[in-house]
Amino acid sequence: MAGPQRLLVINGPNLNLLGARETAVYGTDTLEAINERLALRARAAGAELATYQSNSEAELVERIQRAGKEGVGFIIINPAAYTHTSVAMRDAMAAVGIPFVEVHLSNVFARESFRRESYFTDIAVGIVSGLGAKGYELALEFALQYTGNR
Ligand code: DQA
Repeated sequence: MAGPQRLLVINGPNLNLLGARETAVYGTDTLEAINERLALRARAAGAELATYQSNSEAELVERIQRAGKEGVGFIIINPAAYTHTSVAMRDAMAAVGIPFVEVHLSNVFARESFRRESYFTDIAVGIVSGLGAKGYELALEFALQYTGNR
């Protein structure tokens, strides 16, 4: 395929509140700051990185479907609360068939039991959980390698 590799970072509900929301669990970085670092790193590697956040399940499904049409080569996704509830988002990820890493800022296995269930993990390439905002950066390093941008 010609042109730079396209990567997409998707964040689900309430992650727009990062930096202010339960900082003991999710850290003090804002989503804007995280996305800026990711964009810088992707650019340095010659990749094109788009970011998207929504609180709406329907909009998230639409964004995933659009990624299929845009030729996105890899997705980094934190489905947030929808991790544990959304068959619709899982089906969208399966439908587009784009390889992805599931990211969680917190260690979802060390919290309430309902957070141990994910509708995404078994169809993901892998999962990063509990490493805070650094998790997105590590997932991006993996994505760049996976798509041959590094
Ligand atoms: C989260 C973990 C989810 O259980 C929670 O609903 C979130 C954020 C995380 O990044 O740790 O909103 O995905």
